[in-house]
Amino acid sequence: MLEVHAVEKAYGPRKAVDGVSLTLRPGEILGLLGPNGAGKTTTVAMIMGLIAPDAGEVRIHGRALQGDADPLKAQLGLVPQDLALYEDSSARENLALFGALYGLSGQALAEATERVLGVVGLRDRAQEPVSAFSGGMKRRLNLAVALLHDPALLILDEPTVGVDPQSRAAIFEALEALRASGKALLYTTHYMEEAERLCDRIVIMDHGRVLAEDTLKGLLRRLPATGMLLMDVEEADLQPHLADLQAQPFLSSVELQPGRLRLGLRDLPQDTHRVLAWFADCGLSWSHLACERASLEDVFLALTGRSLRDA
Ligand SMILES: Nc1ncnc2c1ncn2[C@@H]1O[C@H](COP(=O)(O)OP(=O)(O)OP(=O)(O)O)[C@@H](O)[C@H]1O
Ligand SMILES: [Mg+2]
Repeated sequence: MLEVHAVEKAYGPRKAVDGVSLTLRPGEILGLLGPNGAGKTTTVAMIMGLIAPDAGEVRIHGRALQGDADPLKAQLGLVPQDLALYEDSSARENLALFGALYGLSGQALAEATERVLGVVGLRDRAQEPVSAFSGGMKRRLNLAVALLHDPALLILDEPTVGVDPQSRAAIFEALEALRASGKALLYTTHYMEEAERLCDRIVIMDHGRVLAEDTLKGLLRRLPATGMLLMDVEEADLQPHLADLQAQPFLSSVELQPGRLRLGLRDLPQDTHRVLAWFADCGLSWSHLACERASLEDVFLALTGRSLRDA
């Protein structure tokens, strides 16, 4: 559906995008994850044909866009990062206007309007002016506009910034239904929880470059540990066995905190058994057991040395 080959874009001396490649298939949600200024919106603008790359190319259905009048553009839908809505008009009037820009009128427009209002759950508020909408409702309408012409490739640039949990859930539900119907979705975000929850594959970007691209599982597999096991233990009992524990090949890290052992495991379900067996073999006891999952945050930290939250 979409192939991006080594696109580059500079603004003056600053390379906003520096050789980004990605591919997207129908029925797939690809996450584009990166901190502020990573180059996500610039990449989206090049895919949409809004700005020309300095180098590289974008192919949609196997070919490059040729100008603004290219019928291939009808296959693309964009949910822009900044809301693009007329505040004084109602939701329905906004949809009529944007529908007209997509060439929809009459029965086709009426049907498309009902369909997209249903998708984003705004049918009962459609007569109200957008200025009376909450931030989350505006985001949902922003999505509805992009769906009017039923695009095969939907590009969402941070579509959930500042939305309430209810609107976020409504948006996610709509996106999952679109994926199930065979649409291709590119989902740009700097929220790692969203990328973890929604995306089939994730591209991690920073400073205009792709640092990694894989499924969530694949990305987590690159970490030395995919899970952390936390065990409350008697330090004095454990001390004589600590060197032996550290030598166990199934542990990627062993950290003894006051009263608690923090173990990095490559395969939490499998290696937890080994840890417990080792404890039993040594005649050691523990009083409490907990585990934590490694996250995309750990992946970003490992790749950049920075936390995504602080980046
Ligand atoms: N029109 C422009 N003129 C000059 N510099 C720009 C322009 N657009 C983007 N940039 C710069 O390019 C870099 C990438 O910006 P971009 O908007 O693509 O990042 P982003 O990943 O979308 O960030 P955010 O998460 O904040 O939306 C930034 O350093 C930005 O300042
Ligand atoms: Mg952006």
